[in-house]
Amino acid sequence: MRGKRVARQQWSSSLMFVLAATGSAVGLGNIWKFPYLAGKHGGGIFVLVYLLCLLLLCIPIMVAEILVGRIGRRNPVASLEILSQLSGCRKSWRWLGTLGMVAGFLILSYYSVIAGWTLSYIFKTATGEFRGHDAEGVENFFIEFIASPRQQIVWHTLFMTATLVIVAHGIQGGLEKAVELLTPALFLILTILMGYALGTGEFMHGALFLLFPDISNLTAETVLAALGHAFFSLSIAMGVMIAYGSYLPNGISIIKASLIVAAADTVVAIMAGLAIFPLVFANHVPLTFGPGLIFKTLPMIFAQMPGGTLFGGLFFVLLAIAALSSSISLIEPTVAWLVEDKALSRGMACWLSGMTCWFLGLGTVFSFNIWRDLTVFDKTFFQGLDFLTSNLLLPLNGLMMAIFVGWFLRHKLTRSELDAGPVLFACWWLLIRFVAPGAVMLIFMQAIGIL
Ligand code: TRP
Repeated sequence: MRGKRVARQQWSSSLMFVLAATGSAVGLGNIWKFPYLAGKHGGGIFVLVYLLCLLLLCIPIMVAEILVGRIGRRNPVASLEILSQLSGCRKSWRWLGTLGMVAGFLILSYYSVIAGWTLSYIFKTATGEFRGHDAEGVENFFIEFIASPRQQIVWHTLFMTATLVIVAHGIQGGLEKAVELLTPALFLILTILMGYALGTGEFMHGALFLLFPDISNLTAETVLAALGHAFFSLSIAMGVMIAYGSYLPNGISIIKASLIVAAADTVVAIMAGLAIFPLVFANHVPLTFGPGLIFKTLPMIFAQMPGGTLFGGLFFVLLAIAALSSSISLIEPTVAWLVEDKALSRGMACWLSGMTCWFLGLGTVFSFNIWRDLTVFDKTFFQGLDFLTSNLLLPLNGLMMAIFVGWFLRHKLTRSELDAGPVLFACWWLLIRFVAPGAVMLIFMQAIGIL
């Protein structure tokens, strides 16, 4: 396990790392999940807690993960093992890498199903299927669509195959180029949509709902949801950033790169919210519409706006690509681990993990139709999986990572790897050692009812 057996590729520049990490962070979480969670959890208060979690807890943990990857220069499991040995502590910290990989795997199983919805909506929008339909008509399309396991399975299979083909070919050439072009395009289209929402007359209502916190909506559940989503949206706490950090050349500032990624991720989420909530209010869509929220509101905009067929098609293409640059990152740690530690070929590793994940995804597909009434603790399969991963596994993994880096990793290693000035370093150190573990633990215990 020690030393580097495999010659490792590296990102060609710090820009490429930032783009790839942004590609991983910006995905369905920002445009699909953020608006429906904000809608469900009281708008502004959710956003405020989310931003606080991001700044005080998640960015420091992101820095910690990239750092672990760059020192270890291996997959997450091996990197953690190497680092714990270098720091003279137990090798069992490698389990933290395993836990993260499992979380990523579970997330990808449902992520691929929702990304499949996006693929299907490219065609529905671009062929003008929604034209001339009112809010109810568009909603009916969605309801019929998720009632069909067959349609969803086809799109889920397509999306998973696309992910696997890219990962099997290595991510650099194709992906570095794709992200370079598509990230600016996504920003551009989101700006156009926001401009459109500005004209609905409900822009202020939407903006106030999203940006003005109402403290009376604050509950333990909201705080846990915001914390979990901050982890989800930044792609941390499951080894992705360790894996991506392990390809990062020396001499690039980890703190600066993390801040840029977090800022881009937040801006996209807020823009998506500002484009969607004015429409939600203008069309009386219930705030609690859940996972279908954007699949109802966005086609509605496109059905009404001039050039909507083109813009709509394009928007869902970009969303699918944003999802793709995230899904490849979700599976990369597992693939890297199978290749480096289990001596599988990259192709074999991809197909083995991808097929298993695809199979698990069927549970999510069925939870919207034939298993809709099958609930445990009032949650369907999809809801249970999402709760388990976003609200339990991610915070738990993030907590352990903060403890490992803050308390166990040899200080000399951290200090030499993070080329930050003394003040910046001290801030990060305080956050990772005390604030992040303390806050995550408190939120966690409060939400599961121990406190
Ligand atoms: N961050 C991505 C999104 O917002 C999803 C994602 C990619 C992710 N990699 C991850 C979530 C790792 C948690 C952990 O859509």
